[in-house]
Amino acid sequence: MALKRLGIIGFGNIARQLLGVLARTLEQPLDATIVLVRPGSEPENQARLAAQADGAAKACRCVATLDDLLAAAPDLVIECAGHEAVKFSAETILAGGTELVVASTGALSDAALYERLLAAARRGGTRLILPAGAVGGIDILAGIRHAGLESVTYTSRKPPAAWIGTPAERTVDLAGLEKAAVFYEGTARQAAADYPKNANTAATIALAGAGFDRTDVRLIADPGAGGNIHQIDVNSQAATVSIRIEGQVSDDNPRTSLPTVYSLVREVLRRTAPVVI
Ligand SMILES: NC(=O)c1ccc[n+]([C@@H]2O[C@H](COP(=O)([O-])OP(=O)(O)OC[C@H]3O[C@@H](n4cnc5c(N)ncnc54)[C@H](O)[C@@H]3O)[C@@H](O)[C@H]2O)c1
Repeated sequence: MALKRLGIIGFGNIARQLLGVLARTLEQPLDATIVLVRPGSEPENQARLAAQADGAAKACRCVATLDDLLAAAPDLVIECAGHEAVKFSAETILAGGTELVVASTGALSDAALYERLLAAARRGGTRLILPAGAVGGIDILAGIRHAGLESVTYTSRKPPAAWIGTPAERTVDLAGLEKAAVFYEGTARQAAADYPKNANTAATIALAGAGFDRTDVRLIADPGAGGNIHQIDVNSQAATVSIRIEGQVSDDNPRTSLPTVYSLVREVLRRTAPVVI
């Protein structure tokens, strides 16, 4: 079914940029965009949404409850709000038969939640879509997993300041670091538990490939890193893969990963454009 009515959960940096890019990318504006925001913030967000969604959709509306979002009958919902939002909304959306794109894939390191979402998608006759987000190579990884994966290693290299407020502070002097330091080596499951704010990329790679317990993760604080650098190394019968992605952040907000915004744009275009790639 062609996408006409787009639901979005969260109206932060990614959602705003997503609507801005859609406004200049879609061949035709969508019929409607309905955005779930935190209760009480609808008035302030409605004006921002009207400006941001201009060109992306003919009509746009902020709502404050999941019931109101679903009552607006979106064809697709994109979550870009955070792990808690996945926990409270995803099962209901999928069980009701609406396709759901989850940006906060790190929430799916909770195996029980992931199983519930798969069951809900089956019940609802719909799909849970996991976008590539800030990383790439998900296509080849998800394909060759069926040939058997010998090893998958994900290395995340960021400037020391990006690790402030994480357990890295206990093992590394982030402020005084002069050369790159590996402060975590372990499974994607443990990385997601210990570094939840950085869990999305490791989770996406784990879910596409070898799973949370067989995906090795290395986290590095590197004073020489200009931005967030992702390296994925895969050995399998079908291919040996090495991919390096240096994502740029948005000028408006240095916390916003532009590849993530564009991976969500791609999910919309895959449902509106005449060619899917
Ligand atoms: N897959 C990836 O590689 C990747 C990369 C970056 C970010 N992300 C995910 O995308 C999310 C959004 O990123 P962002 O930069 O836009 O964050 P942000 O903090 O700018 O925006 C999130 C917005 O969601 C709202 N929100 C949170 N919970 C909500 C709820 N229950 N109901 C309604 N609104 C709610 C917040 O108020 C905020 O406005 C992140 O939390 C992260 O989990 C994924």
